[in-house]
Amino acid sequence: MANKRAIERCLNIADMRVLAKRRAHKMVFDYIDGGSGDEITLARNSGAFSEYPLVHRVLKGVARVDTSVEILGETWAKPFCLSPAAGNRLFHIDGERAVAHAAADHGVPYTLSTLSSVSMEDIAAIGDGPRWFQLYVWKDRELVSQMLRRAKDAGYTKLVLTADFPLAGKRERDVRNGFTIPPTISLGQAIEAVRKPRWTWDYLTGASISYANLSTETPAVSLAQFVAEQLDADFDWDDAAWLIEQWQGDVLLKGVLHPNDVKRAQSAGFAGVILSNHGGRQLDAEAAPLDALLPARKAAGPDYPLILDGGIRRGTDIIKAIALGATAVSFARPYLYGLSAGGYLGVKRVLDIISEELALDMALTGARNIARIGVDMLLANCLAKAFD
Ligand code: LAC
Repeated sequence: MANKRAIERCLNIADMRVLAKRRAHKMVFDYIDGGSGDEITLARNSGAFSEYPLVHRVLKGVARVDTSVEILGETWAKPFCLSPAAGNRLFHIDGERAVAHAAADHGVPYTLSTLSSVSMEDIAAIGDGPRWFQLYVWKDRELVSQMLRRAKDAGYTKLVLTADFPLAGKRERDVRNGFTIPPTISLGQAIEAVRKPRWTWDYLTGASISYANLSTETPAVSLAQFVAEQLDADFDWDDAAWLIEQWQGDVLLKGVLHPNDVKRAQSAGFAGVILSNHGGRQLDAEAAPLDALLPARKAAGPDYPLILDGGIRRGTDIIKAIALGATAVSFARPYLYGLSAGGYLGVKRVLDIISEELALDMALTGARNIARIGVDMLLANCLAKAFD
């Protein structure tokens, strides 16, 4: 199968992005790939990593590298998890199923989106790794309570509350493409549909794409309209206390950048924080999660779980994030490129690439386990020490 060979030939995430672009309808690729406004935040998220050069250590006995981490009572085989993303069946017919399988193969958690296109119950039946559920807060609180009950019953271990999405950001690519969920192929989209036959075949022959955790089909509207109509932009810290009470288990707060919000999340009873700006899809022209890490770690103290989400493309990015104080990292675009390029095989290849790079880069950095990755491996700190 030509596609299988093309996937195997991908050496890095940038290669996989090219394949995804080749296979997916432009409006779908742009939905994955794009950010808001001038896409300054989007570019900064990954660009920030180059501002922190690594300095390797030598003679550290690195023949066997252990990449596992313990987080909130769970053991992850690698220090990364998969961030939530809406409507994965838009990208490939197998959608969230393919992602859940690949995450289970790798022994890492997959955070399923509230807005998934396969139901939370169907995804819970795949593999036996840790399962996390991401929540958007509906205006209809009864719907929220129902979703929490369903997620608990289905065996989701942690709840992730997304807090940086009161309204959808200004995503100009989506507006230009007339992108809706479910997608509609207008006359203007028809030429592109012919140019992307594999995507179009799947779209036309597969079951219709919808938000599978909702009991009713929703009309084809832009994400911005859907969010403004359905989600509760007034949700605040008092409501968050209500939510934690309802879940009766670990809730992580996703979409935090400011150190005061990290502190507030900690005292409000959140079990951890996911530092994120929603992949540069919300507020444009802001700092990268990586920029926010040192102050966040200072605010949170040494042991509080801080997961960095944003800009991860390489094994060295994971090492830098951990060196700056992250407990682990999370990412979506890399695996979405893989999904879009070739379903399960594409996602698995992406996770293989990142895992192999991480193990190699840990050995080359002189860190035989995650605890050995420290801030002293960053150039700025080496220089500061030299002048102490
Ligand atoms: C997005 C939302 C749905 O960024 O998470 O598109």
